[in-house]
Amino acid sequence: MSGRVVPTDQIHITKNAHQINVVLRNPEVHVNAESEPHFHGKPLSQQGQFGEIMKELDRMVGLDQVKELVFEIYALLRIAGFRAEVGLMANTQVYHMIFKGNPGTGKTTVARIIAKLLQTMGVLNKGHLIEVERADLVGEYIGHTALKTRELVKKALGGVLFIDEAYSLARGGEKDFGKEAIDTLVKAMEDHKNQFILILAGYSNEMETFMQTNPGLPSRFPIQLDFPDYSVDQLMQIAEMMIKERDYALIPQTELKIRQQIVNEKQQTDTDTCFSNARYVRNLIEKAMRNHAVRLLNYNTQQPSKQDLMIIRPEDVRLERKAAKENYKFL
Ligand SMILES: Nc1ncnc2c1ncn2[C@@H]1O[C@H](COP(=O)(O)OP(=O)(O)OP(=O)(O)O)[C@@H](O)[C@H]1O
Ligand SMILES: [Mg+2]
Repeated sequence: MSGRVVPTDQIHITKNAHQINVVLRNPEVHVNAESEPHFHGKPLSQQGQFGEIMKELDRMVGLDQVKELVFEIYALLRIAGFRAEVGLMANTQVYHMIFKGNPGTGKTTVARIIAKLLQTMGVLNKGHLIEVERADLVGEYIGHTALKTRELVKKALGGVLFIDEAYSLARGGEKDFGKEAIDTLVKAMEDHKNQFILILAGYSNEMETFMQTNPGLPSRFPIQLDFPDYSVDQLMQIAEMMIKERDYALIPQTELKIRQQIVNEKQQTDTDTCFSNARYVRNLIEKAMRNHAVRLLNYNTQQPSKQDLMIIRPEDVRLERKAAKENYKFL
């Protein structure tokens, strides 16, 4: 966290209504490596990458609390750089986190962005994400679980170890091997302090119960983030974003049909089948693209026009509830 700090007139970062704006002023004036400004000990060329990561996060719909937190981490690390410059003490923080939220609320996507960001800021040296679940950690005989868990921690060093549905580790109580996985993880957090970040994710209620099963846990995860369910309007924004990113377009009737599908699906999900938020929208859009392709092939004898190739029509928007659930399993 040492190194030259870029003069503040060259980097301008503002936080406004949960928007993170990164503006580089005149980066082209720095012609050679020697005179190239630095940012937290990294060349300013890294700043471009940092800006891209922030933009990626900013593009995500909603998630205000997540955006706040990322800005806090950014500010802390930047100020740490300034402090180091004047010889003040460097204090390291613990970045292990709990992500609480239903399926498809952006947990894995955000974890991946945070991993890249912390690598760019020099906190992690690799910035990769290893995503695992109970079966990857828990073994079949005494000692096997500790071995499996330690192997995964080793793979995650320099990056993020993301454990989905982490509450399932506490499911079987004292005698279950899940407990051995938790104990091994807690030990690894001590042994490899600051060498990896552990993110535990899962449904809100289950995660809260899980944290209570082990009194040592809450203090080890100082950052707890909620990923709320998206509103219908937010899901529509996500749908429009996905359509645009993939070079397709919607007509107003299609928008209406998508909205109806989302409202119906949200209403129909019961306690057994949790609504899968943005993931449902992605499945709906991807199925609509397949339906669109079949429709064009069936009805067009000639090369379809550019407009036909882009426009998703209301009749393309069909996703059976069964299909939505099956897709969910494989994604
Ligand atoms: N806020 C958002 N804006 C745009 N796209 C989003 C947003 N949240 C999620 N998505 C998209 O929805 C899909 C599912 O997101 P993701 O896998 O991150 O969810 P998750 O919370 O990890 O789900 P699960 O708990 O089921 O693993 C991805 O394609 C992701 O890009
Ligand atoms: Mg996920």
